[in-house]
Amino acid sequence: MSEGKLYLTGLKPTGELHFGNYIGALRQACIASQENKTIIFVADLHALNAVRDAKTVRENSYKAAAVIMSLGFNMDNVLLFRQSDIDSVYKLTELLMNVTPKGLMDRAHSYKATVDKNTAAGLDVDAGVNMGLYTYPILMAADILLYDTDIVPVGADQKQHVEFARDIAGHFNAIYGNVFKLPEPQIIENAGILPGLDGRKMSKSYDNVIPLMAPESELKKKIMRIVTDSKTPEEPKDPETSAIFQIYRHFATMDEIATFAEKFRAGGMGYGTAKTILFEKVNSVLKPMRERYEHLMANPQEIDAAFAKGAEIARKIADRKIAKVKKAMLG
Ligand code: TYM
Repeated sequence: MSEGKLYLTGLKPTGELHFGNYIGALRQACIASQENKTIIFVADLHALNAVRDAKTVRENSYKAAAVIMSLGFNMDNVLLFRQSDIDSVYKLTELLMNVTPKGLMDRAHSYKATVDKNTAAGLDVDAGVNMGLYTYPILMAADILLYDTDIVPVGADQKQHVEFARDIAGHFNAIYGNVFKLPEPQIIENAGILPGLDGRKMSKSYDNVIPLMAPESELKKKIMRIVTDSKTPEEPKDPETSAIFQIYRHFATMDEIATFAEKFRAGGMGYGTAKTILFEKVNSVLKPMRERYEHLMANPQEIDAAFAKGAEIARKIADRKIAKVKKAMLG
């Protein structure tokens, strides 16, 4: 691996990886990997508070790994593994519990969102909340702190979690000395919250995603389903409020982006035409990746080999860190 900053990011296998995951996190990690050590893992333990079927978790984990392995990461710099293969992460989670204030968990966006939903529905505030969901940020802090991560490329929805990891590391270091590095989130401008088909944040829970490796015909169908207003082709349109443009800008060149925005503003380009341009651009970028993805899905032994190789190295780094943490806490 090359020297420099250590980048780390994780992806939860609760469904197929989508454009939001790619634009918000994966692509930045892929760029980082060209010059820097980069850890990227399938966060299968994080799926357990919601997905109750082992086969689904396992299949989604393979799909996630196949996506990662298709995007052009510099694999010489990358450690790829499945989170559950690293025993030290369970241990560090348990140890970090002791320095994590409960109030921090109460303030976590995902927990608060559930509480708000329950309150609005007249239910008990904690209805449907298990400890996996409640302590989710501690597991995520363990992921990040275990490897002395410098930078965590993520979408905006994960910013608070990375800040919590930093806070937890700070609490720990204040008590036990300088054991953990303080990580920083990296969120790309205009890419922190990619909109989905209905204009809300693209998210599996809103059922509005475009899967990154959807076959061509499905990709086209999804793009054609992006919700628009009722403006006629002749009417001027604001690119900044259009999900079509918000997605296009991440795949096109600077000149193409400027031309597209200009055509929208001037009027004369209808939404149907805009969607066709978006589909063609996105498809041209994703086609070679999709071919590699399909090859890997047909040859899962290649994914098994990659998981095994990554886990072996990651385990050594993680075990060394756990030994230091135990020494600091237990003598
Ligand atoms: P997850 O699996 O929900 O999402 C993976 C990454 O994709 C980003 N993302 C988006 N970015 C922009 N626009 C969107 N619409 C969009 N939707 C998702 C997320 O911000 C995330 O970066 N808890 C994490 C997984 C995780 C992790 C970690 C990440 C576990 N341990 C340690 C970083 C470091 C999660 O559920 O992400």
